Amino acid sequence: MKIKVLMVCLGNICRSPLAEGVLKDMVNRSGHSHLYHIDSAGTASYHIGDLPDHRSRQVAINHGFKLSHLGRQFTREDFKNFDHILVMDESNLSNVLKLARSADEETKVKLITKYDPRPNHPLIVFDPYYGELSDFENVYEQLVICCEGFLESLKEN
Ligand code: 4NP
Repeated sequence: MKIKVLMVCLGNICRSPLAEGVLKDMVNRSGHSHLYHIDSAGTASYHIGDLPDHRSRQVAINHGFKLSHLGRQFTREDFKNFDHILVMDESNLSNVLKLARSADEETKVKLITKYDPRPNHPLIVFDPYYGELSDFENVYEQLVICCEGFLESLKEN
């Protein structure tokens, strides 16, 4: 049984496809990609079918991997298809939790920053959409720390 992880943000073009790429890159590098199914989705429908934002794609290339995800909207079916639903901010959290139909579905949903082990770490992954490439680079650095913490948490459980 694969560990199924869904990264969720608002538009599914900036943060969550980058989070998907970061986690895939990590498990590829450790030779464990066969153990995981990793995907991403947005709570909004604005960017269905779109490639990730060019700045997320640039940051990925700068770090040695490519993003080829096409935007899709989060649906209730995702609660059935995934074990871990990792969201980027409180707005994503409330939008996803509104669609949950049971406590079991609710417990699958977590802020990805929960896995950041640094004291006084940021509580959300800020939306870089109106920012610059350096904001996307900062998102990347934060996502690496969160994804490392997430993979560590799986070892503990
Ligand atoms: P994301 O960023 O949620 O990280 O993909 C956004 C992308 C697009 C929009 C908002 C946020 N938008 O309003 O189109």
